[in-house]
Amino acid sequence: MAKVTIDGFETEVPDGTTILNAARQIGGDIVPPAMCYYSTLKGSGGKCRTCLVKVTKGSEKDPRPMPKLVASCQTTVMDGMEVANITSDEVVKARAGVVEFLLLNHPLDCPICDQAGECHLQDLAFEHGAANTRYEFERRTFEKIDIGPYIKLHMTRCILCYRCVFVANQLTDNRVHGILGRGDHAEISTFIEKSIDNEFSGNVIDVCPVGALTDRTFRFKSRVWFLNPMDAHRECPTCSGKAVVWMYGHEIYRVTARKDKYGEVQDFICNTCRFEKKSPQDWTIEGARDIDRHSVIAQGHYDETAQTVR
Ligand code: SF4
Ligand code: FES
Repeated sequence: MAKVTIDGFETEVPDGTTILNAARQIGGDIVPPAMCYYSTLKGSGGKCRTCLVKVTKGSEKDPRPMPKLVASCQTTVMDGMEVANITSDEVVKARAGVVEFLLLNHPLDCPICDQAGECHLQDLAFEHGAANTRYEFERRTFEKIDIGPYIKLHMTRCILCYRCVFVANQLTDNRVHGILGRGDHAEISTFIEKSIDNEFSGNVIDVCPVGALTDRTFRFKSRVWFLNPMDAHRECPTCSGKAVVWMYGHEIYRVTARKDKYGEVQDFICNTCRFEKKSPQDWTIEGARDIDRHSVIAQGHYDETAQTVR
């Protein structure tokens, strides 16, 4: 076990735990944001740099601070380590720089983006973004692409976090998309003339931290904060059947997986549940979903008691 102190809060975690997961164990504001790390996806993390922190004391044995800010999702704790996140001006400034960098090519089209209200980049831009950009060059532009019958790709919004690639790689048995090209030519793409079509492909929509991969059955139907997210389940032969149905009155507008407070999917769901079960009769509704991120969705003060529509 290793003792680590983050922003003055001490916790004890098993050896090999990352600083980010140690911070999540403590919880609250001191948890660094994470745009590419995803605890259930092997190999994720280390791409976006939003989780940078300052190690002010390396360990009990070697108390020297680390010379540069480190990615907390990739750096493991040492016994006696001391870390500064929101208490370090250097980290806060660096995070603002990372947000500025992520927004170089990302359009601020939140008013028409389906991810608005549940977008991690929108939250970061709100907290750290500058009012103006210093970028003077032409931005990357792409045509929108339908990758399969259910998913639309807006490559302009992609931050190249690789999460969708890991989902396709680790959750489905037939990955047909990846990142092609390098540097500012890098883009998510399916291999020539293929589309993403397997029973778990819809999960790429849920793991995408921005609005680059959107649900074609829900696009432009409603702003998410006008809907009531309800926990619901059904007998499903393919997945756990545990999902969140997003309702307007008695209509189901969309179905997503259940996510934890860090926006990570708890149980990946199949495409049948996600895209084809949009009738309340398909589901046993358990009750209102508690959305505890600082999202605008949580501001909808609905208070629906559990109901069973069946
Ligand atoms: S499409 Fe979304 S999940 Fe995939 S790499 Fe881009 S931002 Fe990440
Ligand atoms: S979450 Fe750590 S680098 Fe992206």
